Amino acid sequence: MKHLLSLESLPRQDIELLLQSAHRMKAERGRHSAHPLRHQCWGLIFSKSSTRTRVSFEVGIRELGGDVMFLSANDIQLGRGEPISDTARVLGRMLHGAVIRTFAQSDVEDFARLSGIPTINALTDAEHPCQILADLQTIEERLGDLSERVVTFVGDGACNVPVSWIWAAEHLGFELRIAAPKSFQPDPAILARLTSKKIHVTEELEAAAAGADVLYTDVWVSMGREEEAAFRQAQLAHYQIHPKLVSLAKPGALVMHCLPAYRGKEITAEVFEAHAETIFSQAENRLHAQKAILSWLVS
Ligand code: CP
Ligand code: NVA
Repeated sequence: MKHLLSLESLPRQDIELLLQSAHRMKAERGRHSAHPLRHQCWGLIFSKSSTRTRVSFEVGIRELGGDVMFLSANDIQLGRGEPISDTARVLGRMLHGAVIRTFAQSDVEDFARLSGIPTINALTDAEHPCQILADLQTIEERLGDLSERVVTFVGDGACNVPVSWIWAAEHLGFELRIAAPKSFQPDPAILARLTSKKIHVTEELEAAAAGADVLYTDVWVSMGREEEAAFRQAQLAHYQIHPKLVSLAKPGALVMHCLPAYRGKEITAEVFEAHAETIFSQAENRLHAQKAILSWLVS
């Protein structure tokens, strides 16, 4: 039984396979002869808001021949305190696969273990693996092979998105620089598990941006952290992608954002609009990458 629970646990060969498949899914959209989810019904169990992840999975599952059911955690008994372990054992007897967006990584892992059906992490506080697979696809489309490239993440370096970037860099061997203030740097326990010598964490924003092939950012206030908004905005104010920062990167560097974007916070409106084509291709590629993930899980 395969699951996609994190990039940490996804070996390099599988990442490469998924990227090849995502490119193929994009090229062949509307002309698929294989419908690997035929006669299957998948559930999307979401405890947090979503636009891109929800829609890309709903469309992707249908395009692969399956049926799909969106279950907001507030509408099922999970939201009233039914344990994830019971939810998993019930839904595992009815659904063919599950896509889960929640807070604790352990909930996705428990669900996968107890449900007995393929399970996908559609974002937890710890990781956002599906996002980074679509981002890697987007970079490959524009820059080709990634291995000698430099990706610089700017902003909240401790949240799910940069952590999944860390594991992508660890497995694929490209250089990753994370520019964040001390209190928003990745958990030292994660950094201690790395073998790559090409993953750097720094407070020096300008140095981290210098010569980069990709500048990447995410929201300063992740879902579930709303109460810390004022503190985060004050602490992270300097860690913004603005025109001067872009001018330090390699000429023609990509600027990327997983979305939703808050203009004037993690990115200026000017930079966002100048790089909207890349950013919305990232969003589009969520669909193609999800289809690659779904097909791989049931193969
Ligand atoms: N980037 C991303 O996961 O977007 P949603 O929260 O809209 O799904
Ligand atoms: N770090 C963000 C990602 C949103 C797609 C969050 O968790 O809210």
